Amino acid sequence: MNEIPHGTVQEQTFYEQVGGEETFRRLVHRFYEGVAGDPLLRPMYPEEDLGPAEERLALFLMQYWGGPRTYSENRGHPRLRMRHAPFAVDRAAHDAWLTHMRAAVDDLDLTEEQDRTLWTYLTYAAASMVNRAG
Ligand code: HEM
Repeated sequence: MNEIPHGTVQEQTFYEQVGGEETFRRLVHRFYEGVAGDPLLRPMYPEEDLGPAEERLALFLMQYWGGPRTYSENRGHPRLRMRHAPFAVDRAAHDAWLTHMRAAVDDLDLTEEQDRTLWTYLTYAAASMVNRAG
């Protein structure tokens, strides 16, 4: 425990490594531009303004990767599968979600390894959100 003296090696969170809040905001903003023009996904979002949904996803991802815990301060425990239950997340919705997310990740300047880390998580998370057959 604590063999490493302070001020030498400092572990960085993934959040910090990829550029912190700005990177996650860019990612999610680009993602929601895709959602806004998607005929399958857009009608699933209950609010006319996608801004609040964009804010929730950005805060969630920032928290997940080691950034500020604002998401849970505002929303409580994520329980994402439960929160998605009202929405028909079938295979087509899953694929569309990942298509826009892939385009958004491509717009970031991540290293190959960072890209793989983020993408692996997003694909697993998306698969776990599917709650309808079809
Ligand atoms: C697989 C396809 C997915 C679809 C179709 C989908 C759709 C939706 C919809 C319609 C909402 C409600 C919008 C809102 O009011 O916030 C929502 C919320 C949310 N989604 Fe997804 N989602 C998907 C996957 C994911 C994944 C993989 C994650 C996390 C990595 C995620 C994270 C969130 C978060 C954090 C919220 C806001 C929860 C809250 O605090 O209320 N979603 N999603």
